[in-house]
Amino acid sequence: MRIAVYPGSFDPVTNGHLNIIERAAKLFDRLIVCVMVNAEKRALFSLEEREAFLHSVCAHLPNVEIDSFGGLLAAYAKEHGCCTIIKGLRAGSDFEKEFQMAMINRKLNPELESLFLTAEHQYMYLSSSAVKELASYGADVSELLPPQILQQFQQRIRNNSDNKENEK
Ligand code: PNS
Repeated sequence: MRIAVYPGSFDPVTNGHLNIIERAAKLFDRLIVCVMVNAEKRALFSLEEREAFLHSVCAHLPNVEIDSFGGLLAAYAKEHGCCTIIKGLRAGSDFEKEFQMAMINRKLNPELESLFLTAEHQYMYLSSSAVKELASYGADVSELLPPQILQQFQQRIRNNSDNKENEK
């Protein structure tokens, strides 16, 4: 059985992530979507909340499982019998960082391949960070996020803005 892992911050999952999940799920027997910690980012949602979002948006995909992990991706992949790491590639700016991560992960676990799926053109510039920034200025992000998570996302953005106002 061929098992792949698609790791990411998913803070929150976007339509771009979902597109990669749906395409990767067709290539492997099992796909584990794993919410992980990116040391360079401060998350808006907890690991549990991001996991719950993924459960609701991937409910239609029978070979997709959702998990979360606070350690190294290479160790997670080994422990769960994953042969491949799936990553989405958007604009060229992703390439250098992803290339470096792929090399490090292979060094840590030489059995592990990294497979890059190019983003669909409509998601080329979509990122969770851009969605959060747009929403914080009141822009409509309903075409960028799965409908199942939209209301909870907007509520968190509103609470965040209220907290920032109160801190002033
Ligand atoms: O969605 P992101 O933020 O681009 O995902 C990055 C992520 C979470 C996949 C990456 O930071 C990661 O693999 N974190 C787990 C810790 C790890 O293995 N770090 C070493 C990679 S160089």
